[in-house]
Amino acid sequence: MALKNRIIVALDLPTVYQAEKMVETLGDAVSFYKIGMELTYAGGLPLVKSLVAKGKKVFLDLKLHDIPHTVEMATARVADLGATFLTVHAYPQTMEAAHKGRKGTDTQILGVTVMTSMDDDDLKRAGYACGVSELVITRANQAKNIGIDGLICSATDIANVRKSIGQTLKIVTPGIRPTGSDFGDQKRVMTPADAVQAGADYLVIGRPITNASHPRAAVEAIMAEMSATKI
Ligand code: C5P
Repeated sequence: MALKNRIIVALDLPTVYQAEKMVETLGDAVSFYKIGMELTYAGGLPLVKSLVAKGKKVFLDLKLHDIPHTVEMATARVADLGATFLTVHAYPQTMEAAHKGRKGTDTQILGVTVMTSMDDDDLKRAGYACGVSELVITRANQAKNIGIDGLICSATDIANVRKSIGQTLKIVTPGIRPTGSDFGDQKRVMTPADAVQAGADYLVIGRPITNASHPRAAVEAIMAEMSATKI
């Protein structure tokens, strides 16, 4: 896959107007966008269809998690919108329901293993008895057995995940920080080139691009950094 098509820009912006301006600014430098909760709750859902009509791909990052029937039906409605990827939390019941709901559509289901903003202490605080690496591997294996399409995991987990489940699932990686950029609330981060080298199929990049004074130049710099590294 061309490097350019591996970058998914997270449109984590407060208004649809700002999101549309960002898409205009980035132009043909970006072909894949992620719409998450912030923009969805700001009225951003219709953007899925309008971006698809412009030839862009859309990742709807709704991180669904509810009773199976609700997840199944919600997944079917997201598929109607034409999203390429939809996220659900990687609980077995939830992944099974989403897998059922996307049947016969082109929407692919990605299971969120463990948020990249969480480390072992955060998991302990949330009541889990295991650490991040163990939970990621458990959920990756469940995702594989259920048959969903891919996983969201930190670049720092990819090597272990690939060792455990092989190449069957796509890996989409947030927590990407180009050299010298701010971590913000992300804890388990990697540079774009290192993440692709580690085995990520797609990179989700938000603030390092959308908060840059020149977002298109930021994308081009990321591409240049990746091209300069032997991947
Ligand atoms: O701005 P930044 O590059 O940190 O954006 C990362 C994006 O990826 C955010 O939209 C966030 O919701 C999403 N994400 C994440 N960690 C996960 C799953 C999704 O950061 N485990």
